[in-house]
Amino acid sequence: MEQSANMNSDMNNYNNNNNGYNENIVEKKMLVNNNHTTTTIDSNNNNSNNTINSSISTIRVPVHVEICQKPSSSKSAETIKKAVYAFLQDPDGIFNNGPILNFREGNDILARNVQSINVSDIDYEQHSAGVPVWKADIKLYVYRINIDGASEEYTDESEESVSSCSQWVLPAKEFHGLWENLIYDIDIKQSLLQYCSTALLFSDQSVNTNIISWNRVVLLHGPPGTGKTSLCKALAHKISIRLSDRYPNSLLLEINAHSLFSKWFSESGKLVMKLFQHINDLVDDEQALVCVLIDEVESLTAARTGAMSGSEPSDAIRVVNALLTQIDQLKERENVLILTTSNISEAIDLAFVDRADIKQYIGLPNAQARYDILVSCVNELTRVGIINGQQFLRTSSNRITNPTSLENLLMQVATFAVGLSGRSLRKIPFQAHAFFCNGASSIDLQTYLNALMLAVKKELKSRVDLSKKGDTSSSGSVNDKK
Ligand SMILES: Nc1ncnc2c1ncn2[C@@H]1O[C@H](COP(=O)(O)OP(=O)(O)OP(=O)(O)O)[C@@H](O)[C@H]1O
Ligand SMILES: [Mg+2]
Repeated sequence: MEQSANMNSDMNNYNNNNNGYNENIVEKKMLVNNNHTTTTIDSNNNNSNNTINSSISTIRVPVHVEICQKPSSSKSAETIKKAVYAFLQDPDGIFNNGPILNFREGNDILARNVQSINVSDIDYEQHSAGVPVWKADIKLYVYRINIDGASEEYTDESEESVSSCSQWVLPAKEFHGLWENLIYDIDIKQSLLQYCSTALLFSDQSVNTNIISWNRVVLLHGPPGTGKTSLCKALAHKISIRLSDRYPNSLLLEINAHSLFSKWFSESGKLVMKLFQHINDLVDDEQALVCVLIDEVESLTAARTGAMSGSEPSDAIRVVNALLTQIDQLKERENVLILTTSNISEAIDLAFVDRADIKQYIGLPNAQARYDILVSCVNELTRVGIINGQQFLRTSSNRITNPTSLENLLMQVATFAVGLSGRSLRKIPFQAHAFFCNGASSIDLQTYLNALMLAVKKELKSRVDLSKKGDTSSSGSVNDKK
């Protein structure tokens, strides 16, 4: 009975937080799709509280449900949350990461107003079988996708004006699904999200920044092609969804560091000031969350190094200092987040490194992450029919204890692909088809996986050849032995 009381009090909390919803549970059939493994859940439940109460636990697990609203929909976010919440109340339901399917069936409000519903960030280390509905602390986020694409900000109106940044209104179409498709073996994504929520909480509670300081600066560094830039964009997109109630006007600005620092140093100081004036104007809107991405931040260091030996030392130093000062000033603002990347870890300016709250190394994927990246590619080719049959491979989050022979074969490919970055791995499936499938428009899975292995071998061999490029005797086929 104690359990029932907990559920009731949680339901009441939900009601309080959501303008007193009165759940009206309808008969439904819900599909929860996890990487093409589909679970069907039936319920005939007219009295949600009583039914769910019988099986409630005291420990609730946060389940984040992101609801994409149709552009044509005129319903309020609260009305949509109410409808989705009611739809999700199925005592036998289990949440898994991935899209929730068939929410349209027999549900007019959802069919007319909702484009997609996605569950994300369930930690399978802790909840290997998903999260039962009765155990879930359901968190709903309603958002609309912006389809306008990037706009460019120019330094001035003159002919020689350079683009100083690209700007997106978030959540943006370009970054949709990016977060879910970035695969890491350690929990990088979760800790980045948690960093953002701590930063927000500390700001909300007006924690004195003279006592506890945080700079709102994140630095991702590591080898090329490991997804650093993508992860920054995906994070901005993700938090714009998660914080949409609080910040309805989120933006991402990608600063083109090269055009700031490589062209005319004598102009760079002015460019930085102008750019940050623009950023400050945007941050003045308290309804806006402004994410600033400074990609390849090592160009700052290049500017300083150039200052030691180059022709315009004072300009270069002035530019770098101007940028650091501007970043310092931005940290006073609650609604800004600075995301930076570098692939030359040793070369990042120490003054900059010192400002970052998180300095996260993003390494090459391990065998399991390589497998999962390749699974996503292979399943995509199956989805579009280039690989025939409808046999979708499972990802490692499904905790495969009994791999099929084809899953085993792909695991071998992944094990073999040691040293390849996420970027290289995402190119391999194309190469496999282009070079080893004789242009077939439809191919069986086994044959394709064999082609994938050949493509990995070819890629590894060309890397060895490249690394020996000075050595003219290296043109033989010695590297394909494995
Ligand atoms: N861990 C990963 N999981 C899935 N995809 C990945 C991963 N790492 C990289 N990719 C893919 O590789 C592509 C390139 O990634 P991105 O440009 O973000 O890498 P980067 O680390 O910024 O590279 P660079 O250091 O060269 O700028 C992206 O399209 C992304 O989909
Ligand atoms: Mg990059």
